[in-house]
This record gives sequence, structure tokens and C-alpha cells, in this order.
Amino acid sequence: MNDFIFHNPDKVYFGKDIMENLPKELLNFGKKVLMVYGGGSIKKNGLYDLVKKLCADNEIELFELSGVEPNPRHKTANKGAEICKKESIDVVLAVGGGSTIDCAKGVAAAAVTESGNVWDLVSSGTWVTDALPVVAVLTNAATGSEMDGWAVISNMDTNEKIGLGGSALIPRVAFENPEYSYTLPTYQTVCGAVDIFNHVLDNYYLAGDATFDMILEMQEAVMRTVVKWTPVAMAEPENYEARANLMWASSMALNTILDAGTVHGCACHAMEHELSAYYDITHGHGLAILTPRWLEYILDENTAPAIARFGVKVFGLSENSDSMEGARKAIKAVSDFCFGTLGLKSTLTELDIDRTHFRAMAEHACADGIITGAKNLSPDDVEKIYEMCL
Ligand code: NZQ
Ligand code: ZN
Repeated sequence: MNDFIFHNPDKVYFGKDIMENLPKELLNFGKKVLMVYGGGSIKKNGLYDLVKKLCADNEIELFELSGVEPNPRHKTANKGAEICKKESIDVVLAVGGGSTIDCAKGVAAAAVTESGNVWDLVSSGTWVTDALPVVAVLTNAATGSEMDGWAVISNMDTNEKIGLGGSALIPRVAFENPEYSYTLPTYQTVCGAVDIFNHVLDNYYLAGDATFDMILEMQEAVMRTVVKWTPVAMAEPENYEARANLMWASSMALNTILDAGTVHGCACHAMEHELSAYYDITHGHGLAILTPRWLEYILDENTAPAIARFGVKVFGLSENSDSMEGARKAIKAVSDFCFGTLGLKSTLTELDIDRTHFRAMAEHACADGIITGAKNLSPDDVEKIYEMCL
């Protein structure tokens, strides 16, 4: 178990009757608010009208940046930064899923730079310590962006999708009403669930020191939550318990509470971001295809006991005295969950992705030479894992 610092200053309002607190939280930062949102889901579910009314009733001046894309583009964030500079915006309000919140973070960071170009920050790997405050209203249980210090921004001109991180990017306040996720299409519900699951699994002790049992148990509880409640949310989109469990699991998975004492891993994420950067696919779907292949690839005598334990604790498999066999069953349980229960397509070929860019993607995924984790991955390893996904 390693030493650690836990510091997450995000204030979260969670539940049904929370939105009346939005104006006072915004006014803590000022009267001029830029609302950032996506392609219109918040207009259909009434959230847009509600935010407008709450702001109008409280003399908050609201500006808008709409049309944030899934896999948000740097150019969209730059448009928002321009509005912030021109209008002297005090606070950026994201209303939507992870893409919207990430874009809002990009806006907030770029707005305080001279160039106003978020890609300057992303491409230079700048750790963001200065940004306009961000407030988030979450509508999709998935990325954890509502409680973390990361924004994943895409530059489609260069086929790059890169994380921008920094303490100033953690939302100051997040509003999480599970009811706002009732309108999610099944596909997004499912992809979000896989994202939550993988944020934990990418970070799970799969080799080496596993002495911090409390954290292991917490990680397993979050993954079990996804396994238990996603099928319920699929069958009953308006099941509050299911949506609430998934929403809080989303926040817990990546707010660093589950990193305590561990080495943060991100193997599947590093590989998936290349798929989205080249093919603009849905993040969670890419993760679902990669995860069982990655587990298969890293399975050896070192990793088998932890993978086998994960099968028992997360999927309720029976204990197996042969850890290699137990691990194989656990990997099959992941596949069955993603491609059976959740109904996702299981190969890259079915998403019209072939091997054309595998080498370039593998090299970019290993930008620092290797991806560290339960087993370090070189570009050759990553290329082989992509091949296993065809
Ligand atoms: O754009 P709108 O109209 O809002 O529709 C969205 C979008 O089409 C829709 N949606 C969201 N909430 C809805 C809804 N539709 C109906 N009802 C609702 N309540 O769902 C679609 C996908 O939305 P998006 O925000 O793209 O999904 P998600 O929350 O999964 O975010 C994915 C992005 O986050 C990044 C991913 O790479 C991807 O770019 N990630 C961000 C992370 C972070 N900040 O820490 C970590 C993650 O690992 C991830 O990489
Ligand atoms: Zn993710």
C-alpha cells in the first residue's frame, strides 16, 4: 500500500430535489454564466427550460454554447472560451454527459489563457491550475467527469484524443439527479456502465501488492453495482434505484477515492482513446471490446490470482483452487456481461474498424514508451491486443 493524498473539493448535490440550489451556487462565483450543452437531449427532458427559468428568476445572465459533440472537439471548446473572454463570464455551467462537462472544462481552462486555444494546453500536457470555475449538472452516469480533474478533448484534424488534467478542472459543484438519466437511450446507458466498470478495473490490483483490502473491497463493490443495476436500468429506464446506483458509482469510480494507495492504471483507456480518435466511436463500447482481450493478454501466473478473485467478488463465480482456471472463467464472465447481458457488438470489425491504423494507434497509445499497469504494454503488445479485437 502506497502513501497517498486524497483531496476532492467538489460539493455534490445528489437526489430529486436539488436544482433549487443551483442559482445560489452559481451566484457564489458571479452573475454571468455560460451554459454548455450538447445536441439537444436537455431540451427534450426539460432541463434546459428549468435552468433558464432558475437563472432568470435570480437575475443571472445566461450565455450559451450548444452543440457539444460526443468526443468533444477542441474547436468547440475554443468557441466557448471566446464567449467567456468577450462577455467576462464568471462561471461555466455544464449541463449534460461527460462530453459536455469535459468541453466545459476545456472552455474554463482556455478562457484564462492568452491564446484562448485549449489545444495549446492539451498538446503541451499542461497541468491546469488556473481556470474559470465549473459547475456540472450530470445527465449520464458514465465518465466521472462530474467529480474529477480531467477533460478528454479530441482534435479530429490530427486524429488525437488526449486528456487535459488539473486541479482547477474539478467541478466546484455537481448536481446529480438520477431522474435526468431516465431519457438515456439503452445504448448510452450500457456504454456508460462499461465506462464506470472499466475505470475501476483499469485501476484494480491485478498484480503485485494487494494489501489494502478495504480499497479492493470498495472497488469490487462499485463493479458489482454496475453488474447488478445496469440490466435493471435497461429493462426499466425509470427505475430510480438503478439510475441512482449507477450515477453514484460513476462519481465514485473516478473521484480518486478508489485510487488510494494504488498505482493508477489506464491500459484499456489509453488503447480506447485511440479508437475514438480515429473512428469517433462511443468510448464505452470501445472499452467493452478491449477489456476481455486485455485481460486475456495479461493473464499469467502473476495476474491469475487477482483476476480469479475479481471473478468471485464481482460476478459471484465459485472459488476455484486453480487460479488460472478461475481467471479464465472471470474473463468469460466479463465477455458474457458486455456482449450477452448488455448486448454490445463484440468486435472492432462489426464497428467497421480494420487494422489500417493499428500501428500508429499503438505507438500513440504508448506515448511514454509503454503503458504501465498490471503488465507493462509496449506498442507491439498494444497492436496484438487490437488484433485480438478484430
Ligand atoms: O448531446 P446530447 O444531446 O446531450 O446527447 C448525449 C449524447 O448524444 C446523450 N445523452 C446524455 N445524457 C442524456 C442523453 N440523451 C438522453 N438523455 C440523457 N439524459 O448521450 C450521448 C453521449 O453523451 P456523452 O456526453 O458523449 O457520453 P459520456 O457521458 O459517456 O461521455 C463520453 C466522453 O467522456 C470522455 C470520453 O472519452 C468521451 O469523450 N471521458 C471523460 C473522462 C473524464 N473526464 O474523466 C474519463 C472517461 O474515461 C472518458 O474518457
Ligand atoms: Zn472512461
